[in-house]
Amino acid sequence: MKTHKDAALEELFPSNYISVVHPINACVHDIRNMLAVVEGNASLLRMHGLSEKAQERIQSIENATHFSEALCSQLMKYLSLKAGSYELINLTETIDEIGLLLTSTVSKKATVDFELEQNLPYINAIPFQIKQVVTNLVINASQAIKNEEGAIRVSTNTSDCENFIDLAVTDNGCGIPKDILPNIFDGSFTTKEKGAGIGLSSVKEIVDNHQGAIVVNSTPNLGSTFKIRFPVKTNKQLEGEQK
Ligand SMILES: Nc1ncnc2c1ncn2[C@@H]1O[C@H](COP(=O)(O)OP(=O)(O)O)[C@@H](O)[C@H]1O
Ligand SMILES: [Mg+2]
Repeated sequence: MKTHKDAALEELFPSNYISVVHPINACVHDIRNMLAVVEGNASLLRMHGLSEKAQERIQSIENATHFSEALCSQLMKYLSLKAGSYELINLTETIDEIGLLLTSTVSKKATVDFELEQNLPYINAIPFQIKQVVTNLVINASQAIKNEEGAIRVSTNTSDCENFIDLAVTDNGCGIPKDILPNIFDGSFTTKEKGAGIGLSSVKEIVDNHQGAIVVNSTPNLGSTFKIRFPVKTNKQLEGEQK
């Protein structure tokens, strides 16, 4: 039977996401949870004063679970990159489609303001992946605000030279210390207790695949802005490139 969640997903994402990617993703997600149980229990066993040989066995269980967790992360990333195909889109319309989802995902004390330019020129993009990028940035923004009152702004506009579309997500959260700034796009890099560290590495990969560029401005205790620039595309340019 179709649930409300299925219906929402169907509206937002391409058909191969619902039929193929989502079930496999959900399965991999569950496997990761099970691996965490195995790993947790293996470490608890250490407290039972076991022999050196037994400790070595526990170490190999832990090593194997770490490796399997890394494989699961890779697989989830690969699957999300497989969903959808390129088309000419208006970035504002794509973000509008997930407006409600974004406002309902952030913490209750944070507000999300949209400053979206209408009638934007097109970019050549996979809508599902663009939604993933915006969702990841907004979730990070909300987590940076923690339990304080805070504001997140999502904006789109045409660059001054009109050859690019800029997307920016700004928050007034904790900011990013200078010394970790170079690491934030690395796979598995996280400063959060329950973080997976794959959000920004996927964002970077998607932006690279879309021939875009990403710039981060951040001040500790004041907040951060993630700005992404996509090249404008016309049907004519696309046809020229495909020849
Ligand atoms: N808006 C933000 N404000 C402050 N720090 C951020 C923000 N976005 C990302 N970060 C930092 O970058 C790290 C990596 O982010 P991400 O790849 O999304 O993984 P995760 O959210 O699972 O930690 C975060 O752990 C955090 O330290
Ligand atoms: Mg994240």
